[in-house]
Amino acid sequence: MKIGVFDSGYGGLTVLDEFIKQLPEYDYIYLGDNARTPYGTRSFETVYRYTLQSVKKLFELDCNLIILACNTASAKALRSIQQNDLQKIAPERRVLGVIRPSVEALNQLTKTNAVGIFATPGTVASDSYTLEIAKLYPDIKVFQQACPMWVPLVENNEHNSKGADYFVEQCTNKLLRQSSKIDAVILGCTHYPLLVKKIKKFLPKNIKIISQGKIVAPSLKDYLKRHPEIENKLSKNSNIKFYTTDIPELFNEKAGLFLKNSISPNARQIALE
Ligand code: DGL
Repeated sequence: MKIGVFDSGYGGLTVLDEFIKQLPEYDYIYLGDNARTPYGTRSFETVYRYTLQSVKKLFELDCNLIILACNTASAKALRSIQQNDLQKIAPERRVLGVIRPSVEALNQLTKTNAVGIFATPGTVASDSYTLEIAKLYPDIKVFQQACPMWVPLVENNEHNSKGADYFVEQCTNKLLRQSSKIDAVILGCTHYPLLVKKIKKFLPKNIKIISQGKIVAPSLKDYLKRHPEIENKLSKNSNIKFYTTDIPELFNEKAGLFLKNSISPNARQIALE
């Protein structure tokens, strides 16, 4: 059985990239719902419905463990799937998200107990980061900033352009205006690691920037160690398959932006319902 990695589109490839680097032995299936991306501006109901369809498809494709490598899906759908659906559709299998592991790492990163979150409008509106941080570290104050233009910049390969500076600076300024104490910032969206150079340019040097792939991969390693009943069922042939709900040729072309480990995907198209 395989590890499924799901995202609304290409962004989850930044997480898969770290999995391949840090856990190269496993077999992975990546599913990008490119035909219906973005999720960041959609309602709870819609994100939940789309994510559940994707989870069911990845189970059909023989995944034993699925990582929702999409913050919006983790924020709006994960809990319902874990608490209501999993028991009915695949009680022995597991679905995990990216928010919890990102939050767990925080206490080692902030000294001022003031943390910033950059995320899609949907993730910010869900308050998932604030709630999760309050549960684990009630002393940490959270300042969220929605960045609605950052995903389109990356999707359109404009993230290194001069024009991108305007939108990055706009959001970094808005976050900095919320508190002068912030000393750590989570990039709470799969696409944002591609903007990290520009984000660094507009944030004071003392602020640590946390890209999720780097955190989620060791956290998955740790999870697999603690759950041999899941790990034992995983095949280890270093095989990676890619599925998209939109045009495979386009997926193959764009995936290169997000995958640093020189893999050339040969995606297949798949329908979700
Ligand atoms: N993958 C989404 C996330 O991490 C960003 C793209 C989208 O809005 O669908 O929130």
